[in-house]
Amino acid sequence: MHDGDRTMDDTSTTVSGSATTLPGPPLGIPNSKLGPMTPTPPSPEIASKPESKKLYVKTYGCQMNVYDSERIEDAMRPLGYLPVSSPDEADLMVLNTCHIREKAADKVYSELGRLNEIKEARAAAGGRTQIAVAGCVAQAEGPEMIRRQKGVDLVVGPQNYHRMPALLARAAADGRSIVDTDFAVESKFEALPSRVAAGRGPSAFLTVQEGCDKFCTFCVVPYTRGGEMSRPAGRIIEEAQRLSDQGVRELTLLGQNVNAYHGTGTDGADWGLARLVEGLSAIDGIRRIRYMTSHPRDMDDALIAAHRDNEKLMPFLHLPVQSGSDRTLAAMNRKHTGAEYLRLIDRVRTARADIALSTDIIVGFPGETEADFEATLGLIRAVGYAMAYTFKYSPRPGTPAEGMQEQVPEPMKTDRLARAHELLTNQQMAFNAACIGRTLHVLFEKKGRNPGQLIGRSPYLQSVHASATDDLIGQIVPVAINFSGMNSLGGDVAVYS
Ligand code: 5AD
Ligand code: SF4
Repeated sequence: MHDGDRTMDDTSTTVSGSATTLPGPPLGIPNSKLGPMTPTPPSPEIASKPESKKLYVKTYGCQMNVYDSERIEDAMRPLGYLPVSSPDEADLMVLNTCHIREKAADKVYSELGRLNEIKEARAAAGGRTQIAVAGCVAQAEGPEMIRRQKGVDLVVGPQNYHRMPALLARAAADGRSIVDTDFAVESKFEALPSRVAAGRGPSAFLTVQEGCDKFCTFCVVPYTRGGEMSRPAGRIIEEAQRLSDQGVRELTLLGQNVNAYHGTGTDGADWGLARLVEGLSAIDGIRRIRYMTSHPRDMDDALIAAHRDNEKLMPFLHLPVQSGSDRTLAAMNRKHTGAEYLRLIDRVRTARADIALSTDIIVGFPGETEADFEATLGLIRAVGYAMAYTFKYSPRPGTPAEGMQEQVPEPMKTDRLARAHELLTNQQMAFNAACIGRTLHVLFEKKGRNPGQLIGRSPYLQSVHASATDDLIGQIVPVAINFSGMNSLGGDVAVYS
């Protein structure tokens, strides 16, 4: 799995070593200063220097942003932009922002200040740099961004990345800043150039669905990413086939509410996620399929059965519960009770006994009492998670929970976060320790820290390291597990395939 340039502040802790959340952020959806536009050809000035420009992309937040950042790189590549890891000397700097954390916008503005200093220093030396802000903070802030930071050339919302080459060219030609946070009529997915998987490893993200209609009262996603939208299955399968041709072996299907997927199938019928997974499984080179993030209400029988029947569908499920208290769940508008969630977990485990379960927990939601929090701990104990993400509730502008009475005092949130975290940490350690003595199939993704070591993922999404030769990168290899830690396993390659 790709590691984004993740930022986590102290309002959240992750019990796993890897990133998992699928959010995006808040409120008012400002209009673009541009009218509706179709992609225009790049300006001759930009197009004339293939392979000569440096593109720096900094990604915050969820895996969907990691995917989007790759697509931004793909969109700019035909214009000669190649990704670099430092903003110094970059011709284009992109901040792909996340609004799920508290003070997200402040952090973006401070980073923009830093990038603008680099831009000005470069301008003084006769160079030219453009700065673009993408992602959910861009969507939420819109024109405000340009008012507060004059160095920004482009503010672009998550639906409009396919327009970036034309927008940047126009900003350069007109010498002005542009805001495009409209929800595009045309689909960015189909308008973006084909994906380039080369050099990105054997595991890839693939966005199949965006947006959310659930309106949990704490969450900004329905406002910043808009309503649910599913890509047609045929397009997804084409993209997966191309990725497979380029060496990708594992797909993680992404969506803010991915199991609500319902797209037009290749047969013209409406396909749910289970049918899509089946369609993707027909691609020989794709050996593993995962998906995230799901809502309990959208976990249908077909998807549960797929965990039993489809051996390419990995035994891992990220199913956020947020709370174990029915009172809190109702206030969150989660549309399920604790008991319904537990029954669902039973059904999933009946289909696939060894499935690793992961979740998101919010502590300190408005009105949460000690008894409510105890109910959350009780639910965590009842499930036994392999991995989890815990968050202190923090108000998001424009969401219903922001205005709720009985906000929980900060020290109480901190205390509950620590208690939930401790329980979940113990569960994760126990889950990992139980793997010792087993042989797990590991998809090796890259070289490890030590010479002669590779790192990959188990079926349960654990990071596994083992001594192995580089030719095993991209292969699924049995590894006899003899070490377990909090965030990883270690072992010996059992058989070379
Ligand atoms: N406060 C704390 N956590 C939040 N999340 C979403 N919004 C908030 C908020 N306002 C968490 C939820 C969600 C995850 C992606 O982020 O647990 O599942
Ligand atoms: Fe946000 Fe709830 Fe939708 Fe998840 S299901 S994206 S928490 S509104």
